[in-house]
Amino acid sequence: MEVKIRKANSKDLIPAWRVKEKCRRKKGMLRQDFLTFSADFSANKSFIAENTEKVVGFIICRNNGYISIFGVHPDYTREGIGTALVNRVKSNHKNLWCHVRITNDGALEFYENYGFDKRNIARNYYVNGDDAYVMVYSEK
Ligand SMILES: CC(C)(COP(=O)(O)OP(=O)(O)OC[C@H]1O[C@@H](n2cnc3c(N)ncnc32)[C@H](O)[C@@H]1OP(=O)(O)O)[C@@H](O)C(=O)NCCC(=O)NCCS
Repeated sequence: MEVKIRKANSKDLIPAWRVKEKCRRKKGMLRQDFLTFSADFSANKSFIAENTEKVVGFIICRNNGYISIFGVHPDYTREGIGTALVNRVKSNHKNLWCHVRITNDGALEFYENYGFDKRNIARNYYVNGDDAYVMVYSEK
């Protein structure tokens, strides 16, 4: 199915939030609350992936190239949508970086496959005390 990547607008907030909640339920990974998500989504460069029916993925990237939150609906993973979303934000930044929970094997594999490197560990980064890898992508 054809998937289009486009800049998000205010109408995309709730559909993107629903995708985020699907990711959270399925993987137990994306835990931002709605107010934080909403502020982040509106204040930064956000892009969504949509097929002919609905929003199936989103990415929020801050001005300094920091990917604050990013997800693809679990029914649509491994179809290249995550790669297309990161490609979109990469076109605006020479360097990208993010935090990834050290237990989030799928995301770690994704980022390493894309060309991000593990830079260091941020101890107790998450509210439950989990550590994060700081991952960095630098244009070669
Ligand atoms: C991480 C995530 C965004 C990847 O999205 P995606 O659309 O599935 O990514 P792609 O299809 O572009 O994957 C590209 C490559 O990355 C690797 N990859 C992606 N997901 C993977 C997984 N779960 N396990 C192992 N490798 C994976 C593979 O090499 C894949 O290529 P292949 O499918 O040809 O083998 C998605 O799994 C997701 O939303 N996860 C839950 C939320 C999350 O963890 N977000 C990141 C928080 S920082």
